[in-house]
Amino acid sequence: MSIVRCEELSRYYYQGAENAIEVRALDQVDLQIEPGEFVSIAGPSGSGKSTLLNMLGALDQPTSGKIWIQDELLNGLNKTELADLRLRRLGFVFQSYNLIPVLSARENVEFVLQLQGVGAAPRKARADSMLERVGLGELTDRRPAEMSGGQQQRVAIARALASEPDLLLADEPSANLDSQTTADLMNLLTELNRSLGTTIVMVTHDTEVMHYAERQIKMRDGKIVN
Ligand SMILES: Nc1ncnc2c1ncn2[C@@H]1O[C@H](COP(=O)(O)OP(=O)(O)OP(=O)(O)O)[C@@H](O)[C@H]1O
Ligand SMILES: [Mg+2]
Repeated sequence: MSIVRCEELSRYYYQGAENAIEVRALDQVDLQIEPGEFVSIAGPSGSGKSTLLNMLGALDQPTSGKIWIQDELLNGLNKTELADLRLRRLGFVFQSYNLIPVLSARENVEFVLQLQGVGAAPRKARADSMLERVGLGELTDRRPAEMSGGQQQRVAIARALASEPDLLLADEPSANLDSQTTADLMNLLTELNRSLGTTIVMVTHDTEVMHYAERQIKMRDGKIVN
């Protein structure tokens, strides 16, 4: 079973006076991603990369077309069911980290596990072991403001992976990082993809970064153009 399947997936936006301008952010996209793949999505600004990723993450609804995550047809799910699917099966890493400022690294990672109903002791153990894994074993009690950008991004990755998602979605995860930290982060993602088998879909416009993925998808004007 594919982990993701899109069939003629489209997302149109309407802009300008009286919404007269139709923008085909995503235009009849067919896509299939298999379990364990590491896929990058590249393409010019405005080509629809984030729109596609948000669709795969059940964060946005298509204008038309179908999308499945594993056996689940997203079109048929209500808001609560979509939120539950996101919580149980998906992990997200964004360019802006989105950590909770008043929580320590450990508490940030524990937060999602708490939402999933994981008890206090296993929660702490899993948070600590995931932070160790991303090289932050010494910094578990630090708050985001006390860490570098690369360290914060690694907390975000630990948080996304602690719940053992089937699919990790990352939108420009290295956008705010220097080249050495970017290389470290990509090696980490590659290692986690291999050892945990987590499927990764990563948006990037950095040509060096996209080659860490084993399959590269290119987008232009809302279409996949490989
Ligand atoms: N909420 C919105 N309302 C109207 N138009 C939007 C909205 N979000 C995106 N668009 C339009 O859809 C198109 C695709 O946008 P998208 O954000 O997917 O591009 P992108 O490839 O991620 O670009 P970037 O590399 O700059 O992040 C663009 O033309 C954009 O202006
Ligand atoms: Mg984008």
